[in-house]
Amino acid sequence: MKLHNVSTHRKYLCGVGVGPGNPKLLTLAAVEAIESADLVLAPTSSQDEPGRAEEIIQKAIGAIPIRRILFDMAKGESGIELRKSTALVAAKEIVELLQPGEKAVFLTLGDPNVFSTFNLLARSVASIDPSVEISSIPGIMAFQDLVSRSGMTLLDEEESLRLLVGLQVDDKIEEALKDSSSAVVIYKGGRNLPAIVELAKKTGRLEDGWIGVKIGLGESEVDRLQNIGTEPVGYLSTMIFPPKRH
Ligand SMILES: C[S@@+](CC[C@H](N)C(=O)[O-])C[C@H]1O[C@@H](n2cnc3c(N)ncnc32)[C@H](O)[C@@H]1O
Repeated sequence: MKLHNVSTHRKYLCGVGVGPGNPKLLTLAAVEAIESADLVLAPTSSQDEPGRAEEIIQKAIGAIPIRRILFDMAKGESGIELRKSTALVAAKEIVELLQPGEKAVFLTLGDPNVFSTFNLLARSVASIDPSVEISSIPGIMAFQDLVSRSGMTLLDEEESLRLLVGLQVDDKIEEALKDSSSAVVIYKGGRNLPAIVELAKKTGRLEDGWIGVKIGLGESEVDRLQNIGTEPVGYLSTMIFPPKRH
């Protein structure tokens, strides 16, 4: 299907955020982009299984043809190198498959410009064919859904937000939690839940903390951090701490 209002000479790649899990959190812009695309791509960690983003789309708009891109999610430098080479191969394919005037969309959990393989893919496509027009459609992020489910106000007046990665529990997390005027969001910290809970206790933030595991995705769990226990949880988990308000 050809897109309206596009040049017939250029090819298009759009990163589409599909939200954290609940299909109702998909935006109208995302649905429109997906339904009008010539090629829909989605990351997966196993060719035989739909990835999370694909699952959300299946629930929201039904089964549509989706080309899966197998991204190895291994941690560290070797994982990053693997993902770079996957992105390059996928980028070559996209540039070859698309005819001038056609558009590919790449589905991504949450937002496509925050911790997403879309970044790698877009850079690879641009390096192969700089004439491809690259754009994105924002998606609701997991921490926003968690804030809403917890009932808290995340930020007010002059408060700031710090979004950190919890793959390592280092001084950065402790320093952020010590800054009581900032809200703290921790992504990718499930494995380090015990250490993060300890830091939250030490800095007086535990009682206000919330955690969401697989938010909106089937067996999800959303609770106060102090109720969840101290065992590690999975990768798809987000923790939030509002500022300390007196
Ligand atoms: C590779 S990042 C993807 C971020 C995504 N692009 C976004 O904008 O939310 C993966 C991290 O996002 C968070 N995350 C994404 N979806 C989630 C969900 N449904 N439930 C809990 N955390 C989620 C977790 O912290 C997870 O470790």
